[in-house]
Amino acid sequence: MKIFHKCALLTWLGIVLSGCGPSPTFLNPASSIAEHEAKLYNNILIMALVVFVLVEICLIWILIRDRNPKGDNTPPKQIYGNSKLEITWTVIPVLLTVILFVMTVQTMQSVAAPAASANDINLHVIGHRWWWEFDYTNLGIKTANELHIPVGATVQITLDSVDVIHSFWVPQLSGKTDVVPGQTNHMWLTADQTGVFIGQCAEFCGLEHALMRIKVFVDSQDDFNAWVSNQQKPAVQPQTAEEQAGFEDVSGVCASCHSLNPAESENKVGPNLAHLFSRSTFAGATYDLTEENLRGWLHDTQLMKPGNIMSIKLAPEEIDRILAYLKLLK
Ligand code: CUA
Repeated sequence: MKIFHKCALLTWLGIVLSGCGPSPTFLNPASSIAEHEAKLYNNILIMALVVFVLVEICLIWILIRDRNPKGDNTPPKQIYGNSKLEITWTVIPVLLTVILFVMTVQTMQSVAAPAASANDINLHVIGHRWWWEFDYTNLGIKTANELHIPVGATVQITLDSVDVIHSFWVPQLSGKTDVVPGQTNHMWLTADQTGVFIGQCAEFCGLEHALMRIKVFVDSQDDFNAWVSNQQKPAVQPQTAEEQAGFEDVSGVCASCHSLNPAESENKVGPNLAHLFSRSTFAGATYDLTEENLRGWLHDTQLMKPGNIMSIKLAPEEIDRILAYLKLLK
């Protein structure tokens, strides 16, 4: 392929892959944190553009001014030392660096976590290969991959990992914080508008790193309260004989890794199932939570997310029974 065609293809891919909808980047902020980050980024971009344009203008001007007339091959005059020029091109970058430093420190102060208050949502985020466990420590709720927060609230977050280093990042709502085994990190976030915001594990953590997403629902206070009271309810009881059989399967086969108690204190290796079908996605927020997708998952998890630690062989009739029960878990 000719180099021109390669460049054209790359440009086209860039446009297609960047998508057309509102992209989940901090340049499209939905929180004061992302707003400060975007402001810093734009200011630095403007400074860089001004420097680039001025340098290019000088370069082109000198190239034109000092070129030899056609046919004249005289080598250019060699010049050594020019104190005025050398001081200028040292002082200007130093000044620019000081400006960058001051702007960065100001931004860091603007996005520093506010002091803890009784109204905060306290969230414990636990990174797993390859999904997120969310524990609302002052609400008694354990869930996975999907967060609900009320608009305007301060969410104080502690982060731990059970295996390797992950990084928690919802660009429109907050900065990025590494999730490190053996070390508890802290961050905070807040959202200024309701909506759904997508996050992504931002530290390479193995085969399915790309399929370790976060979906944040920023709710009105009323919607959030309704979500909380539903999540705090115990898992529903089976009614029909098939649901009862499915419940027994889940309590037997699944219970060693998954809990049906929404306030489970024990750390299980798999996501809490108490309100599974209140979520819109599963498997690291990468698959829509539909009966069909979940059937595929129970049939062969490795086909849908190779390398994940869930490996189980279930007969089709077992899958039917389990699904009959799981579907109740709204
Ligand atoms: Cu977890 Cu990348």
